[in-house]
Amino acid sequence: MKRYYLSYADWSATEFKAILYCILKGQINYGPHPELLRKKLSNYYTPSTVYTSNYGHHAIKTALEIFRRQMPERSEIILPAYICPSVLQSIKLCGLKPVCVDVESDLNISPAAISNAFGVKTLAVIVPHMYGCPAKIKDIEILCREAGIFLIDDAAQVIGVSQDGRLLGSFGDVGILSFAQSKTIVTGVRGSGGALLINKARHHQDASKLAKLLPPSNKRFTVLLEFLWSYLWEKYTKNSAYYLGRLVQLLGLKTRNSITYSEMSNIEAAIAIEQFKRIDQIVLEKSRIVEAYKQALNGQTTLSFPQYNLGVFLARVMLLIPEEINAGILRKALKKNGLDIRLGYDAYVIEGKNNKNAEGLAPRLIGVPCVPGMSNVEINEICKIILQAITVILLSRNNT
Ligand SMILES: Cc1ncc(COP(=O)(O)O)c(C=O)c1O
Repeated sequence: MKRYYLSYADWSATEFKAILYCILKGQINYGPHPELLRKKLSNYYTPSTVYTSNYGHHAIKTALEIFRRQMPERSEIILPAYICPSVLQSIKLCGLKPVCVDVESDLNISPAAISNAFGVKTLAVIVPHMYGCPAKIKDIEILCREAGIFLIDDAAQVIGVSQDGRLLGSFGDVGILSFAQSKTIVTGVRGSGGALLINKARHHQDASKLAKLLPPSNKRFTVLLEFLWSYLWEKYTKNSAYYLGRLVQLLGLKTRNSITYSEMSNIEAAIAIEQFKRIDQIVLEKSRIVEAYKQALNGQTTLSFPQYNLGVFLARVMLLIPEEINAGILRKALKKNGLDIRLGYDAYVIEGKNNKNAEGLAPRLIGVPCVPGMSNVEINEICKIILQAITVILLSRNNT
């Protein structure tokens, strides 16, 4: 039986050459590449200035600290009810109050929903482009500017895509990027890199001061090894990742799982630079895969593709399964049929608040393989396997 794995990164030989080069020079944690990457990104996002660190959500935390200093009387942060949990964590770490807003069917928040949530205590709005699907960021920028509220253009999942002639990430006061697995530029897993884009000169001085406080990067080689073994080479390493993890633990090499913020490592910055050189190619390949899924889904009504738009780039392809199917049960059934899928995030639920779309969509989202180079035939086969598994689950339920 053919196995279909998820994809975590689109790497070519040059990324591996960069790794080898850093190892041979003994420059794993420290070296010239973080500063080089910072300059390249600043150049790409001109007139914004870029600061790198080891996490995208660290960039959010830094931005919120900067905003809080400027408006200490405000404490509420608007964000979507469907979001990566680390964003929520950054808000709480700053002692601020998250105010979640329901999403539209494309999993993004709309200008109208944001404007309805504005209050006297609103400090900032965080607007992600969920899975790379562009939010209506230009209209949101105008809204925030008129209301005197800070805006974070959260481009964690999307690099190299423009809207209205401007790169995503460059709207509002600041933008953020992440280089962790399954994003556009990928340098590894857990703390492999992120960036803060300062889009307004007034925040520059604070950002520069805070960036200097970051401790140096530490123990990144074992995390990189874990990324290669457990994620990138999963197809070949299979269950051995589990045993390697045990061995690393026994040898006392395991890095702590708790989150620590630091500078980006030299080796991961070197990978990011190579990925960045191929950004157009990476974006094009993902857009091709998106289109192939759309074609493969034509003529059926069981699975829908809520974020699809002609020519859209998506970091992940998330499909919507029927309401009556449990995504966890489907995942197990698909695994038996040789297909790996991932589930969506949990919706952020607040008692007494109606986030109908987020709560309705979140349990029905499944992420399907988007492996660079995969053929249309393989994508058709994947869709067929999912549709068959759904039919079997529904039939077995009807028979009991
Ligand atoms: C929209 C969004 N923002 C921020 C982050 C945080 O990035 P990191 O994992 O690098 O902290 C993520 C991570 O998945 C994300 O999806």
